[in-house]
Amino acid sequence: GFVNTKEMFKDAMEKGYAIPAYNFNNMEQLQAIITACTLTQSPVILQVSKGARKYANQTLLRWMAQGAVELMKEIASESGLKEIPIALHLDHGDSFELCKSCIETGFSSVMIDGSHLPYEENVEITAKVVEYAHKYDVSVEGELGVLAGIEEDVKAEKSIYTNPDDVEDFVKSTGVDSLAIAIGTSHGAYKFKVKPGEQPPPLRFDILEEVEKRIPGFPIVLHGASSVLQEYVEMINKYGGDLSGAVGVPEDQLRKAAQSAVCKINIDSDGRLAMTAKVREILWTQPAEFDPRKYLGPAREELINMYMRKNREVLGSANRV
Ligand code: G3H
Ligand code: 13P
Ligand code: ZN
Repeated sequence: GFVNTKEMFKDAMEKGYAIPAYNFNNMEQLQAIITACTLTQSPVILQVSKGARKYANQTLLRWMAQGAVELMKEIASESGLKEIPIALHLDHGDSFELCKSCIETGFSSVMIDGSHLPYEENVEITAKVVEYAHKYDVSVEGELGVLAGIEEDVKAEKSIYTNPDDVEDFVKSTGVDSLAIAIGTSHGAYKFKVKPGEQPPPLRFDILEEVEKRIPGFPIVLHGASSVLQEYVEMINKYGGDLSGAVGVPEDQLRKAAQSAVCKINIDSDGRLAMTAKVREILWTQPAEFDPRKYLGPAREELINMYMRKNREVLGSANRV
């Protein structure tokens, strides 16, 4: 079955690496995540968003995830490897009812994202989810601070970053098991507005350090952590797409974050980009192909390689089971 995130985060904190939290919506993404994480012997958090539940049907998605545990066991035994811990986590839960529904259907971890609410309301809804979840040994992630949207000038809008003065009270008042913070990342493929050849601004490690001082040893989560790998952006543009100006978080920033109290790194966009790049390449170069297995299969291989590399070279989660 699934495990909650408590032991995963304890080990990641002690040893200075981060657990990958990869989103999935379909079978090929799920197979790729499980294959890559089993072969690299990395613990993994399977992330399901509200949108993913709606897209794939919540019942089907839940049983697919359950099936993925069996797939992991098969791969491990065929390759003479150890079984890996897998958590099934609700990403960006927006209500108590959604969190409850996920807990009732077997999720081992949920996020209640009250980050857009006034502080007291965020505390209230998060504490309510924690009270319910902990009865079932389900771990809960909360969030403080609002991740920048693409249109916002990150440097100008200081208020969007997590305020370190709030974190101790939030963690104590809610009882959450981990805390997502805003230090300059954002969701999607357009994280920073930079001129060609320019480096994006560094993440606010000063805020992260201040947070670590207030809640020492407490697991921190980084959302919006895709690197928007330029090889995929270029492939997409080459084969008929248009993603000009897409930029992500440089991998060396994530490596640094993984060594800190950041114990969970959320990656969705990079998977979408890798899959789309490969599908576009095949449909463009083999116009007579119409068997979905012939383009989704190679896309899945591409995903496997990308996730394996992330575990090994960026998050440091490989060989931790
Ligand atoms: O944080 C958002 C995740 O990337 C999930 O995105 O809501 O489009 O499924 P989604
Ligand atoms: P990316 O869009 O950077 O992949 O972020 C994903 C995420 O934070 C999911 O919660
Ligand atoms: Zn997120």
